[in-house]
Amino acid sequence: MYWNFSDIIVGAGNGRFGRHSGTVALEIGFGNGEYLRHLALSERYSLVVGIEVSQWCVTKAARRALAGGSRNIRLMCGDARHIMKYAFEPESVSGVFMNFPCPWPKRRHAERRVARNDFAELLASYIAPGGEFTLATDVGWYARDTRDVFASCDSFDTGPAILNPERDYVTKYERKWRAMGRDTFQLTARKKQGLTEARTDIGDDNMTECTETISQTGGDFRQKVASLEGNVVEGPDYRAMFRDIYWNGDDEALVKIISVDEGFEQHYHIRIENRRGRVNVRTDPVGHPYKTPSVREAVKHAALKLSAKG
Ligand SMILES: C[S@@+](CC[C@H](N)C(=O)[O-])C[C@H]1O[C@@H](n2cnc3c(N)ncnc32)[C@H](O)[C@@H]1O
Repeated sequence: MYWNFSDIIVGAGNGRFGRHSGTVALEIGFGNGEYLRHLALSERYSLVVGIEVSQWCVTKAARRALAGGSRNIRLMCGDARHIMKYAFEPESVSGVFMNFPCPWPKRRHAERRVARNDFAELLASYIAPGGEFTLATDVGWYARDTRDVFASCDSFDTGPAILNPERDYVTKYERKWRAMGRDTFQLTARKKQGLTEARTDIGDDNMTECTETISQTGGDFRQKVASLEGNVVEGPDYRAMFRDIYWNGDDEALVKIISVDEGFEQHYHIRIENRRGRVNVRTDPVGHPYKTPSVREAVKHAALKLSAKG
C-alpha cells in the first residue's frame, strides 16, 4: 500500500503552528503514536502535534494516524528540546504530554534527558496561561527531579507526583511496566496567568536551507571538494564533521555532514554544484536539517575552502 505522508509529517517553520486558531496539544516522544491518536480522538484539541527523535517511530505513527483517518495530527522528527522553538508561537500550546520518557540514568548521559534544568522555562514560553504539562513515568527519581525543576520555575503551579494514577489512556510502555508490576507516577504542572516573558529566539523564516554562492578562484574543483573530507568545524556549543563525498559527474557532489548543537545531532548532506565557475553550496533539502549554528558554519566552511586560491 502507498502512504502519502507529506500532509502529516512536516518540517518546522517559523512558528508554523501559530496560525492555527484552535487549541493545540503537543506530545514529546510519542513512540508508536497511540497516545497522539487518543488525543486526536478526544476532541479536546483541534490540532495534535507530535515531536519524536526516532524516524522509525515517526513513520509508524504516521501510518497509524492515516489508517485511523485522523486529519488533525502533525508529526515532526527531531529533538523536541530544539524543534519546539521553531514550531510554536509563544504561549500557543494548551497541553504538553510526555509519556514514559527515556530517563537516561547514567551521569554521562544526563545531557540527553528531556526534563533537564531549563525544560520548565522552555515550556513556560510555549504553554498558554492555564495550560498544562503532564508527565507519566515509571521512574520515581525522574518524577521527583522533574517536579523540582517545575516547582523552581515561577511560571507553574506544580502538583505532587501521584503514585499509580488512573490514566485516561495506557500507552505501550505503560502496559509493559504495569505487566511487570512496576509503579508509575504522574505529574501535572499548570501554567500561571501572565507571568512569562515571551521568547524572542524563534528561528529564521527559512529553516531548512543555507546557501552560499561563490566564484571559483582556480584550482581543480574535484580536488577542492575532496579536500573537505574529514574536516571538522567547531565552536563552543557546536561541531560539524565532514564525512563521505558522493559524486554525480564531475561538477556536482553531495558531502555527508554530521552536526551536533548542544547535544542535538543531525545527519544531512551539503550539495555542491559547479556551474561554469560559479559554485553553489547549500544544504540538501532531503535531510531537512534545521538551520542551527553548526549547519550554518558547515556551509560557510565549505564555501570558504572552495573559494580559496588554489
Ligand atoms: C520509552 S519511549 C516511550 C514511548 C511512548 N511515549 C509510550 O509511552 O509508549 C520514549 C520515546 O521518546 C523518544 N525521545 C527520546 N528523546 C527525545 C527527544 N529529545 N525528543 C523527542 N523524542 C524523544 C524516543 O525516541 C522514544 O520513542
